[in-house]
Amino acid sequence: MSAAIIKQAVHALQAGELVALPTETVYGLGADAANPEAVARIFAAKGRPADHPLIVHLADAASLAHWGEDIPQPAWALATAFWPGPLTLILKKQPWVPLAVTGGQETVGLRVPAHPLTLELLAAFAAARAPGAAGIAAPSANRFGRVSPTTAAHVREELGNVVSLVLDGGPCTVGIESTIVDFSRGAPEILRPGAISPEDIARVTGVLPRVRGRTVEEAGERATLVPRVSGSLTAHYAPLTPLRQVKSGELAGEVRRLVQTGQRVAVLAHGACAPGDNGFHWQAVASEPAAYARALYANLRMLDALGAEIILVEEVPSGPAWQAIADRLNRAAAGSGAGEAALPE
Ligand code: TXA
Ligand code: MG
Repeated sequence: MSAAIIKQAVHALQAGELVALPTETVYGLGADAANPEAVARIFAAKGRPADHPLIVHLADAASLAHWGEDIPQPAWALATAFWPGPLTLILKKQPWVPLAVTGGQETVGLRVPAHPLTLELLAAFAAARAPGAAGIAAPSANRFGRVSPTTAAHVREELGNVVSLVLDGGPCTVGIESTIVDFSRGAPEILRPGAISPEDIARVTGVLPRVRGRTVEEAGERATLVPRVSGSLTAHYAPLTPLRQVKSGELAGEVRRLVQTGQRVAVLAHGACAPGDNGFHWQAVASEPAAYARALYANLRMLDALGAEIILVEEVPSGPAWQAIADRLNRAAAGSGAGEAALPE
């Protein structure tokens, strides 16, 4: 069934064109990572600044050595343990890897995605290249600073005018972007939390990685660096409607207060809405983190499209299982409501 579409996608990649593709995390906007002109088209389509590096998607862990240099043993161990899967490794790049892909940096982000259709595409794309040499550079297939897409329909809505081929692999099963682990500065550090937790990483490497932090000192340090992870900008993953997080115990009262002042309110909450309440849109979400993450971006897009004046999100529990989701909600809140004019950068 998919043979014809895979062939078409391989031809498009070989011709330097863009192909939107499914992964287990979010949909990506792909191009041949070895072709700088093709990679430039990704930046143009997304409206993304050229110094924000892209992740290169590989067919298998064995391809790692073609792209990364001086790969430390724990990086190999993580690749073996978690690929295909929602983990990106930042490694020193091989000299040939185009700077267009790495945002001008000497490091490269690499991952093998766990989606059958995209693995099939990567294998077919790799067939015509030297072993390990095929890579698809792909950021999330959204405009810069906006909510990542988790269905093919999301991609068509947002980028349909700039990408002709969208591979439909159904809804993403993880729903938030990969965990990024940086090996380029010695001890591995998490640059972006995701479904693979620090504890999962420690089970393989024997060391709990530091999460590049949120302290004032670290924010200051980061300010002096090239923005290494665009997802680390405070305002990111943002709906256009203002979004605010509210503590569980205060949610019902806050909704009532806003409705009384005549505001159109949309709510994302763990439980069902109290019966008899009306005058607002209430979206119930799973109280289990994997299901919450899977539906998060579709929920944010849906709530954003309602034309409400505010989106209230019930705070998620604290604790490691919710860390990646809390990270995305904090960034969504920080970047929300500003409209197109106030996108980061
Ligand atoms: O789950 C994912 O990672 C998805 C799917 C499509 O694979 N991709 C994704 O790409 O989230 P993007 O571009 O939206 O976010 C990737 C992040 C960016 O914030 C980028 O700055 C960071 O990875 N990154 C890529 N290469 C890097 C490098 N060499 N050093 C530091 N950060 C890097
Ligand atoms: Mg992104």
